[in-house]
Amino acid sequence: MSTHATLSGLRIVVSAGPTYEDIDPVRFIGNRSSGKMGFAIAQAAARRGAQVVLVAGPVSLPTPDGVQRLDVRSAAQMHEAVLAQLPADVYVGAAAVADFAPAHPAGSKIKKQAGQDTLTLTLVRTRDILADIASHAQRPRLVVGFAAETDHVEAYARGKLENKRLDLIAANRVGVAGSGFESDDNTLNVYAATGDSKVLGPAPKTELADALLDLVAQSLSRH
Ligand code: CTP
Repeated sequence: MSTHATLSGLRIVVSAGPTYEDIDPVRFIGNRSSGKMGFAIAQAAARRGAQVVLVAGPVSLPTPDGVQRLDVRSAAQMHEAVLAQLPADVYVGAAAVADFAPAHPAGSKIKKQAGQDTLTLTLVRTRDILADIASHAQRPRLVVGFAAETDHVEAYARGKLENKRLDLIAANRVGVAGSGFESDDNTLNVYAATGDSKVLGPAPKTELADALLDLVAQSLSRH
């Protein structure tokens, strides 16, 4: 029998996976993200009775039972799809959204020229989905972000928590074996706007999803 807190009656929007930013019809800039963490959160939330919408970047994962899935490709598409889901009670931004996209994607394949040694791409910042959700007039009661850091995990994660006006941020250290993007296991350092923090794991991403949702349920009960 599950002892997990129920999320029944709540509408939860989760983003997952990478985004692909097209350079031309055959090339793109992408992030290393399997989507496993976000899919596990969507699945665990649906099992607890939440109404879950999963906005997924390009990943080859099956849709969790009872979850409404919307597939997108680029950061701009993900931004539009996520904001169109408001109002919602909770937003969990687990996607590894590209921070920059080519300013002028080419309509046909870019060909190399004889003697060409370098290629310069101009990139422009994408819109920050998480920050836009957190400052939206229809802000969800709880906004949860993720941070992938190679160093100074707490300082950078708390910086993002504050700058983006989040309620919770789940940070993981990338660039070490046995955690991060493509791994099944992970450790999450979760920091709250209240000043609280908690280490979850190391554990499989499916277990971390449940542990994170326990923190979500706790935070909602205090709101
Ligand atoms: N995010 C987003 N929209 C973007 C970029 C990021 O919603 N355009 C969200 C991600 O879903 C994640 C969090 O923001 O929840 C990650 O924060 P971010 O500042 O993008 O992290 P990094 O890309 O690692 O930033 P930096 O390069 O400054 O470390």
